[in-house]
Amino acid sequence: MDLPLIHLASVDSTQAFLRRHPHLGFCAVLADRQTEGRGRQGNRWESAAGAGLWLSVVLPASSGVAPGLVLQRAMTAAAQVLDPEGRILGLKWPNDLVAWKAGRLVKVGGILGEQVGARLILGMGVNLTSAPEISDRAVPPACLQDLGLEFPSIEVLAIHIINSWRNLTQNIQPPFRWPETGTPIRWEDGQGTCLGWEPDGRLKVATAEGIRRLSAGEVTGLGQGG
Ligand code: BTN
Repeated sequence: MDLPLIHLASVDSTQAFLRRHPHLGFCAVLADRQTEGRGRQGNRWESAAGAGLWLSVVLPASSGVAPGLVLQRAMTAAAQVLDPEGRILGLKWPNDLVAWKAGRLVKVGGILGEQVGARLILGMGVNLTSAPEISDRAVPPACLQDLGLEFPSIEVLAIHIINSWRNLTQNIQPPFRWPETGTPIRWEDGQGTCLGWEPDGRLKVATAEGIRRLSAGEVTGLGQGG
């Protein structure tokens, strides 16, 4: 299915736009700029004009795949488009697009998903030519350009990513995942050692109290432990 792409110069949020216009059906919205870009956990997502890819797509909600896994697969598919040789980009649990820069993990992009009836609205932001200055983050923002990755025009990129989301039932693996099994980790209300990524998208962790399976909604600030 080729999804129609609506390209806006400016909008509050591509995600909010698609929620407001259900009659558009299955389609994609790309904006040069968002004035009220939304991030996970109610955070603001900086979306300056031309600085990045600000894209939302309405897909049929898939009954067979756990929602958390759909987001991980969508981001993994986008990573393959942005970094076809798999040299630089990987996934930080649950679904952040990250890279290593000067020995430090940096965040290049993020994704969120909202199910509205039978529609799944995926919204992805990727910093392309600049990233906001937020130095107090455990995983600070960075942009693709600073990582030496080349990319075509934003619209061409959007089309490739939308096409890569046609079939998210496939089990695709990112070039690297953080945390890997054995990594000590910390989050708001706990710490432990990563025991791996579960098939349903949760993170399996050994803690002093026993094994926990973290889901995306219960953890915001996952960082290095030890
Ligand atoms: C995150 O916090 O990691 C997720 C960020 C998602 C941002 C994108 S940009 C396009 C779409 N529209 C929004 O308002 N948010 C998403």
